[in-house]
Amino acid sequence: MLRHPHDPIGFEHQQQQLQEQQQQQQRVSDSSDNDLDGVVDEKRKVAAAAAAAAADPALGRQDGLGLDPLDKSSLSNRFKTFRGAFKYLHDLTPQQVDDFMASYKIYNLDWADEQQMVAALGPDYRQKVGECLKAYYGVMNHLCALGDVEKMYIPPFMDKRATVLENQLLYEREIARAIGLAKGDRVLDLGCGRGRVAAHMATATGARVTGINIDPNQIAQAREFNADRGLSNEFVVQDFNSLPLPFADESFDAFYQIQALSLCKDLPSLFKELYRVVRPGAKISLLDWVSLPAYDASNPEHAELMSRVKPLIGAVGTPTPQLLEKALEDAGFVVVRSENASQGGLQAPLIERVDVYFRAMRQIILGLVKVRVLPQHFKTLINRLCLDGEAFVKMDTMRLITTSYWVVAAKPE
Ligand SMILES: C[S@@+](CC[C@H](N)C(=O)[O-])C[C@H]1O[C@@H](n2cnc3c(N)ncnc32)[C@H](O)[C@@H]1O
Repeated sequence: MLRHPHDPIGFEHQQQQLQEQQQQQQRVSDSSDNDLDGVVDEKRKVAAAAAAAAADPALGRQDGLGLDPLDKSSLSNRFKTFRGAFKYLHDLTPQQVDDFMASYKIYNLDWADEQQMVAALGPDYRQKVGECLKAYYGVMNHLCALGDVEKMYIPPFMDKRATVLENQLLYEREIARAIGLAKGDRVLDLGCGRGRVAAHMATATGARVTGINIDPNQIAQAREFNADRGLSNEFVVQDFNSLPLPFADESFDAFYQIQALSLCKDLPSLFKELYRVVRPGAKISLLDWVSLPAYDASNPEHAELMSRVKPLIGAVGTPTPQLLEKALEDAGFVVVRSENASQGGLQAPLIERVDVYFRAMRQIILGLVKVRVLPQHFKTLINRLCLDGEAFVKMDTMRLITTSYWVVAAKPE
């Protein structure tokens, strides 16, 4: 059983919740709002337990992490996010669900094998991938928001006392430091999700973020979230596989991206484009999925694990650190840092935490689908989401891959 002292979502707790939930199912009426209330109640219990653990002075957690409490979403915000995501998923059309499930086909492909891409998707495969990415992320961002990963990334393992969300905040602080973000700086965020990282960067440093994303659904949420907080960050719908980017030369003082590069068809061209849009002296930060030297594609066990993990994390390409470094250097950047940002090079403790959370959520959802409180498509979605978490943990533990590889580079003055 995975149980973290500051993360009370252990199995026993989950089982107890499930039993309570099953009893509750008998009482829940079949109106959509009551369905939501039932699940939100569950989430509230989990969050309240987490908050109680966090507030325990014996744990000394807030001081130790040094995080500004304002950076963390308040509990009421978390409920709102959870409820909004749940409602959105509840109201999905059958077409949206089918498109989401069909989009997984791209994760069995690899940019490196163009022949295979053309055979599977046709000669206009780049456009087809773009359509799949929109169908996938338009649903996935809401699924992730049911858990601690509204920012759709498992962060580097920075501090074992911290939750997944806190590890994200700690890492984002490191990015800001590494690229020297200061008040008034203009910074580009590629694959910006729902604009939550951008909001954190702006409030922490006073920089102004421009986020781009292929998915209009996330861009709309990013705009609303940032406007609600009085932030002047801006968000643009843009496919980063469609170059050039709509920005003038040297229009940014810095750049960062978090776990979006595997969806880039042509890294050398993208990096040249980044070189064009940042000013001389600018620093850039990349955090991404890579395969590590121990990974051997000709080893059947490795290959089988890879075929399970790529769809789970939604990766098309799998670069190596060397490939990233070379493409950056060829574009003109100087690499100043290239390392696994996770403590001890292992992200597994955080992956396990997310996996355990979503498997508990799955049990609750399956129970509610069974008694027809929730529509059938919840089962389809949560089963797909929860597939192969152990394979991800295994690959990370075997040091075959990581999603926490960090490269920082500079454009020479
Ligand atoms: C795995 S998530 C990374 C987490 C994200 N940085 C965040 O803050 O939530 C990948 C992000 O890249 C976006 N994305 C994927 N393919 C893209 C593309 N071709 N062009 C622009 N954005 C893309 C997705 O919509 C998603 O928001």
